[in-house]
Amino acid sequence: MEQYVIKGGNPLVGEVEIGGAKNAALAILSAAVMTDETVTIENVPNVRDTNVLLNAIEEIGARVERLDAHTVRINGSFIRDFNVDNEFIRKIRASYYLIGALLGKYKRAEVALPGGCNIGGRPIDLHMKGFRALGAEVDIKYGLVRAYAEKLTGTHIYLDKVSVGATINIMMAASMAEGKTIIENAAKEPHVVDVANFLNSMGANIKGAGTDVIRIKGVEKLHRTEYSIIPDQIEAGTFMVAAAATRGDVLIKNVIPKHLEAISVKLMEIGATVEEFDDAIRVTSDHRLGHTQIKTLPYPGFPTDMQPQIATLLALSDGTSIVTESIFENRFKYVDELSRMGASIKVEGGNVAIIEGVEGFTGAAISAPDLRAGAALVVAALVAEGYSTVDCIHYIERGYECFEDKLAALGGYIEKIPVDDERAVQKFKLKVG
Ligand code: EPZ
Repeated sequence: MEQYVIKGGNPLVGEVEIGGAKNAALAILSAAVMTDETVTIENVPNVRDTNVLLNAIEEIGARVERLDAHTVRINGSFIRDFNVDNEFIRKIRASYYLIGALLGKYKRAEVALPGGCNIGGRPIDLHMKGFRALGAEVDIKYGLVRAYAEKLTGTHIYLDKVSVGATINIMMAASMAEGKTIIENAAKEPHVVDVANFLNSMGANIKGAGTDVIRIKGVEKLHRTEYSIIPDQIEAGTFMVAAAATRGDVLIKNVIPKHLEAISVKLMEIGATVEEFDDAIRVTSDHRLGHTQIKTLPYPGFPTDMQPQIATLLALSDGTSIVTESIFENRFKYVDELSRMGASIKVEGGNVAIIEGVEGFTGAAISAPDLRAGAALVVAALVAEGYSTVDCIHYIERGYECFEDKLAALGGYIEKIPVDDERAVQKFKLKVG
């Protein structure tokens, strides 16, 4: 087990390259098995969640070839097993995308119930409702979601709640159903569009992704493709906040600035400078920022996956800010850790954080409660006076590739060391002074 040791106080300055979108990659890697031909996918982030999923795909018989750290070639023609269940896949949320992919192609799937970050109740009723509407029988038994169909038939599906996962999953299965499917109240996140573009490049017929009505004409077969995944909106947003929080100057490269608008607007509102280029964004700040109100919402609203990071920044800003979490019910678990660093945050009713900005944090031994909260705590430690350790970094590694290397290259004092290795902590302290 490893942890980060961090000395705060150095502004982040320089350039950072953003990787492929984890949440697009998880769906696209699953969808890649829907053809018997070979699919090449570029810009795959080399993070724990994508690697777990690739291993699961390999275990059911697909051929997975890693051409380099970010390029994967997949051939799904050898799949003989429709049961996806191992101790690793149970830990990732995106295992559910294999239900849509296998159900679409083979009309059957048995996949371990998804795990993922513990950020509140995370039902999959909408996914199941969608599969049933397409004609599948779906149940949950022995810890597995099991779906079978004689055939899938296109239909009209209204999602009661905007769900990224359900939209993508239904879109995948419906791509190989007979006839037309319409998904209403669909999620509009950039990765929904990316998955639709990927499926279309394999011969699917999907229109309207990125709006709240998606129309799909089922096709019998999908074919080979080469595809490059979009940049990760949340990794980029995390570096934007880290630049602002440390009063730094960071050029964040390989991004789609449009996807970052909700974040840019809030940063500018509180006084940071954000400059947009074609495929880069620069964030600078040299003073204490101001307060604001934020409510997380489905895209194009402010992303829930950026809530802990922006709340951390607001905890250092001048005045009282209010952050309302409207997507997940348990996404303020980092507040206790942040309080130990000196933040003044009260959570009311489970989903509203009232943040009284403080002048600064002080270093502490803290623990990452989940992926994005973990990243937020690293940002906090990079600002805090003195040394911090952050453990449970396996959560952070689920979604951030070489996080500590990228931060260190920007001038952050951060190193990954074994847990409980006091000598490594001392060595780090001697090195950074
Ligand atoms: C995806 O989760 C992401 N995960 C999450 O990213 C992200 O926070 C979330 O979308 C929202 O953007 C992956 O892509 C693997 P949802 P997902 O279905 O699909 C409710 C990260 O940090 N709901 O859009 O699980 C649900 O409880 C992770 O990278 C139902 O009620 O999210 C929530 O309140 C964490 N029934 C809301 O909808 C369902 O069947 C939105 O969830 C499905 C969802």
